[in-house]
Amino acid sequence: MASALLELKDMEVAFTIGKRAYPALQQISFKVEEKETVGIVGESGCGKSLTSLSVMGLLPETAAMTKGGIILNGQPMEPASSEGWSTVRGKQVSMIFQNPMSALNPLMPVGKQIAEMAMTHLSVSKQEAKRLAMEMMAKVGLSRVERLYDDYPHQLSGGMMQRIMIAMALICSPKLLIADEPTTALDVTIQGQILDLLRDMNRSIGTAILFISHDLGVIREVCDRVIVMYAGYIVEDAPVAEILDHPKHPYTVGLLQSLPSADKRGRPLYTIPGRVPSITDRGPGCPFAGRCPSATDLCESVTPELSQVAAGHQVRCHLYANGGRVI
Ligand SMILES: Nc1ncnc2c1ncn2[C@@H]1O[C@H](COP(=O)(O)OP(=O)(O)OP(=O)(O)O)[C@@H](O)[C@H]1O
Ligand SMILES: [Mg+2]
Repeated sequence: MASALLELKDMEVAFTIGKRAYPALQQISFKVEEKETVGIVGESGCGKSLTSLSVMGLLPETAAMTKGGIILNGQPMEPASSEGWSTVRGKQVSMIFQNPMSALNPLMPVGKQIAEMAMTHLSVSKQEAKRLAMEMMAKVGLSRVERLYDDYPHQLSGGMMQRIMIAMALICSPKLLIADEPTTALDVTIQGQILDLLRDMNRSIGTAILFISHDLGVIREVCDRVIVMYAGYIVEDAPVAEILDHPKHPYTVGLLQSLPSADKRGRPLYTIPGRVPSITDRGPGCPFAGRCPSATDLCESVTPELSQVAAGHQVRCHLYANGGRVI
């Protein structure tokens, strides 16, 4: 069988604080196949961004991959090799962030920033890079691109800037695009347009997407599969339709209950009581035990393993260990 486009194998990432190492990600294993769209969902602090930064080889200085590894396109990635990463970044994997303003150079025209990306990675001439950049700007739905090419970031709206970021990320036709909360800073109408654009790009260019959001409602719009993260662990991984119809992990159930919907109109939205424990405050047992309505003594002391409950559906919960209820 051909290898997956991206594979994370039992990855652990830890921060060093003082003299101690605190794991922020543990036992992270998942695959993204070519052209697949995979979402990562979870509340703030669950480890979504850290997972995507690991895939880009862009971990903060105080963090390190302490176990496991990443295989990209069949190639094991060496955590310490910045050279290895720089050859894949842009060309094989690209990333767009929540706040495009902070990712763009304020002193360079936006079109030129896209063209420079093409010149760096595709070794094309200056003229050809400009032509490709304008073509890509049109593809991501920007109009009057000749004029826009010379505009500076501050002259653009948030939605236009996010389109520029997407053009920049896709100019080298990467196999994988990582989008970390790309629409959180945008208003709802523009948010919808950007989600449509990402879906179109996935279909027309075939770029696989790893889409990160704290909002399952947004992930449902874009993704085939969803990975639910909680306190540094993957707690559920399943096709989107399966998660919506048959959520298993009590945390996923809570996330679904807190989604707005027509039949909940007029009533206050549910929120899961409590909050995600910080990395310095994670003991043994299931990380969700303290907030879980179904927790037992076992949950307090033993961390559950991921177990398969249906084809392509995995859950990390003692309620479903060995494919069924054990407690
Ligand atoms: N530089 C850092 N030093 C210490 N801990 C950090 C650092 N950056 C992140 N963390 C911790 O690592 C964990 C995961 O952080 P991460 O940024 O991946 O969360 P997230 O799921 O992306 O959250 P958000 O939705 O707020 O973006 C959090 O508990 C966070 O406090
Ligand atoms: Mg984040």
